[in-house]
Amino acid sequence: MALGSGLFVTFEGGEGAGKSTQIRRLAEALRRRCIEVLTTREPGGSPGAEALRHVLLSGAAEAHGVRMEAVLFAAARNDHVENVIRPTLAKGFVVLCDRFMDSSRVYQGVTGNLETEFIDTLERIAINGVAPDLTLILDLPADEGLARARQRSRGAGEGDAAPDRFEKEEIETHEKRRQAFLDIAANDPERCKVVDALRPVDAIAGDILDLVDPLLARITGASSKQPVGAE
Ligand code: TYD
Repeated sequence: MALGSGLFVTFEGGEGAGKSTQIRRLAEALRRRCIEVLTTREPGGSPGAEALRHVLLSGAAEAHGVRMEAVLFAAARNDHVENVIRPTLAKGFVVLCDRFMDSSRVYQGVTGNLETEFIDTLERIAINGVAPDLTLILDLPADEGLARARQRSRGAGEGDAAPDRFEKEEIETHEKRRQAFLDIAANDPERCKVVDALRPVDAIAGDILDLVDPLLARITGASSKQPVGAE
């Protein structure tokens, strides 16, 4: 459970599932209700973690093995948690994060073949008690997700739009990841909700709002208060 009076929502799933579009839509819907929202992403989200993002997504860490990558993802996550997520939740914000600990469980743990104990230990250190209140798993067949991701990288020349090291892998790997996200949801149905990402954007956004809505009670109480540190 998140600390303080905020609400911590993470978005997970394979490439091309539409996470960033849905985060933007949810943030807009919440802001229309005068709820304070922070959108962020992993790897990254804080200056220290953004520095590691480049190392991880460029493939510079790949030569040193998946164990090294897993430790770097965890280091980035801990920096993000302690410098951004925890203090923002403490101010009563809704924090929407594009990928979080489940991505490490799936990409490094399942398809990276790292032992569960290693991944669990890193996770405990990285999140240091700041677990998501709700995790939305945007579910899509691997071939569809990959086709969308490729289209996106062909269409845009800038920055993060180019396929990263994790997007270049095989279709079977992507299907394995899809199943791994579904397994996480099955094992933790209280926290994780699976959203069918094959449907139109509006329908998905509507479902997501319905899932978040019941959790907003404590925020709507908190949002009328002064942010921490304000006069
Ligand atoms: P990004 O460019 O943010 O794209 P997207 O989320 O749209 O796929 O890429 C992040 C990549 O990093 C993605 O391929 C998954 C990978 N990743 C991990 O392997 N482990 C992690 O813990 C995280 C947060 C991401």
